[in-house]
Amino acid sequence: MLPQIIQCSSFQLRPWRIADKPALLRYANDRVVWRNMSGNFPYPFTDADADQLLAVAAGQTPPEGIYAIEADREAVGMLSIVRGRHIECCFAEIGYWLGEAHRGRGIATEAVGRVVEMALAEPNLVRVAAPVAAWNTPSMRVLERNGFVREAVLRRAGYKDGTLFDRVIYARIRESADPYVAALECGPTHDMGESRRGQPPASRSVGSAT
Ligand SMILES: CC(C)(COP(=O)(O)OP(=O)(O)OC[C@H]1O[C@@H](n2cnc3c(N)ncnc32)[C@H](O)[C@@H]1OP(=O)(O)O)[C@@H](O)C(=O)NCCC(=O)NCCS
Repeated sequence: MLPQIIQCSSFQLRPWRIADKPALLRYANDRVVWRNMSGNFPYPFTDADADQLLAVAAGQTPPEGIYAIEADREAVGMLSIVRGRHIECCFAEIGYWLGEAHRGRGIATEAVGRVVEMALAEPNLVRVAAPVAAWNTPSMRVLERNGFVREAVLRRAGYKDGTLFDRVIYARIRESADPYVAALECGPTHDMGESRRGQPPASRSVGSAT
């Protein structure tokens, strides 16, 4: 189970708070962040977008694995590590962004390193991966410095900003685990159609207690 707060050298990872809204709006409303994030990260990042994100990330029970990166006493970025479903239940995907004014200080490299070490120490998680746009050298450096291996290039697998682009899959794995046996330690799932003995657990974010 990942801790709620992860103390790093000059910053910390912690749950989002409703009071982070001004900082979130200041740093997330960034074309570079939008261009490099997968999923439906919006740009412009509006007041309503901030409310929507915080409604989940800063809810009464903050989702595990969704962190604010707090530096200089404000939330300056985000890091998420979310477990897959079904056959990907022993695999988590990591994503992150940092406000422009705070880049180039090694924050992302250290944050990813700390979280991945902890995640791969979970008994039933053996792989952490990130898809990176082919142009995103800073993100590739963050991953490479943390022992991620460039596994594959998915050609023309992304479309953004009017451009088709390649996506590079980076992953770090725990070599020593038997994922199937380890997954059983979580107990049987009651997920739809998967209640038979021996099936891996239902999807949840890393270490989730739900
Ligand atoms: C990717 C990102 C999180 C990196 O954050 P950061 O805290 O600035 O990263 P760090 O300071 O830890 O280090 C980044 C590495 O990239 C390098 N780098 C930074 N800018 C670079 C550039 N324009 N070209 C090449 N390398 C660059 C740094 O030198 C460093 O590598 P090094 O350790 O070998 O010197 C940040 O640039 C960002 O938020 N980008 C937009 C969102 C994004 O791309 N998210 C990732 C999606 S996969």
